[in-house]
Amino acid sequence: MTASNDNREPGPTRAAVILPYERTVRGAEVNLARAAEAKLAEAVGLAASIGLTILHAAVHPLRERRPSTLMGEGQVAMVKTVIEQHAITVTVVDAALSPVQQRNLERAWGCKVIDRTGLILEIFGERARTREGTLQVELAHLEYQRTRLVRSWTHLERQRGGFGFLGGPGESQIEIDRRLIGERIVKLKKELQQVRRTRGLHRSARAKVPYPVIALVGYTNAGKSTLFNALTGAGVYAQDQLFATLDPTMRAIRLPSGRVAILSDTVGFISDLPTQLVEAFRATLEEVAAADIILHVRDIAHPDSAAQRADVLGVLTAMAAGDDPSIDAAWAERVVEVLNKEDLLGGDTEASEAARRAATHGAIAVSALTGEGLDDLRTTLDAKLSAGMVTLETALAPADGARIAWLYEHGEVLDRRDADDAIRLTVRLSPANRARFEQLSEAG
Ligand code: GTP
Repeated sequence: MTASNDNREPGPTRAAVILPYERTVRGAEVNLARAAEAKLAEAVGLAASIGLTILHAAVHPLRERRPSTLMGEGQVAMVKTVIEQHAITVTVVDAALSPVQQRNLERAWGCKVIDRTGLILEIFGERARTREGTLQVELAHLEYQRTRLVRSWTHLERQRGGFGFLGGPGESQIEIDRRLIGERIVKLKKELQQVRRTRGLHRSARAKVPYPVIALVGYTNAGKSTLFNALTGAGVYAQDQLFATLDPTMRAIRLPSGRVAILSDTVGFISDLPTQLVEAFRATLEEVAAADIILHVRDIAHPDSAAQRADVLGVLTAMAAGDDPSIDAAWAERVVEVLNKEDLLGGDTEASEAARRAATHGAIAVSALTGEGLDDLRTTLDAKLSAGMVTLETALAPADGARIAWLYEHGEVLDRRDADDAIRLTVRLSPANRARFEQLSEAG
């Protein structure tokens, strides 16, 4: 969400990524260092994904966690030299920094410093796809910033529309900023409530729609949006109009059998999700939980692909195991795994071997970019939707024309027996439609 009319920021943002890590276990140093390198690579990828130009990246083993700057004095000085050498304006420290540490590092280095939480908030800010998402991220951002009002505001805040009022030099200005942030938080919370009410209405409107829902989930950057566009791009359906007005992240697709389904894009998963964003994420997961199929998109060419898969499944497992009623224990049966970015795999690399192994347990290799494997995917989705159908037997009052018509429209009526007092129907429905039917029945 960058302000395109912001002329103050020409050219790329020159950035450095620093990963401080603890090397506490003697003898295990080598492995820890290697793990740190992998983590650094991830952080560099994340930083690059928000448009930062990374001119320097390094790991720094910590001898101890210094309360003032986290890293040792010598390390801080070393980084400073590099920052000056490359005229760096933003340094990402891939760790949790206290407000004091952040401020001291900004002073020492003469540049903006963001920590892991700040980085993830930036990513979510750029990628929020709905009004609700945008509001939630801004709220999370403000709550995070409230404790960190420092003097060196640089472009990251200014680019993000609406924060331009910040940035005075004195303590009194900081007090004013704090108050303004407090007021903005109150306003955002109100707006969010309003948006949530609307979303509730949308969901009940959708419940009346006959099509099954396929929700895309996956680690950030796995290619969900690209796949969403690849699957929906071929043709725009009349039904789309309906969904486009409800929610831009939902579109209708037609599967090979002629069946229409709704494809729903969601925000990406990420490890170490800041607590401020957990709430925002919950709303996304509710949408996922209500879907007929959970389409898990993986970046199979990523070196951390397996760990990312575990992260995504871990979040869903934790939700199902917790007391959150929004996702049922049988979610795993509704997952279809997609191994995306197949085009990036070399012939016989380790990654392609892993991809082949995964494909044997039902995962489908595709390239959202080249379109390879998409036909296979469509066929699988079709088959999965048919296989999951349930048979419902119900007796309705003959006067209950609306619900009888609903069943004819949304399911396949296998048998019908008319008596004076009741019409008995045997209907094949998708599980989600059965739930919708029950919802209709409860609603009266
Ligand atoms: P979030 O918004 O963080 O959730 O990301 P996302 O999962 O929606 O990923 P997105 O579709 O934005 O893709 C991320 C990057 O991967 C983009 O640069 C895409 O062009 C690239 N990408 C997606 N699919 C493929 C693919 O099949 N092959 C290759 N080579 N690149 C791909």
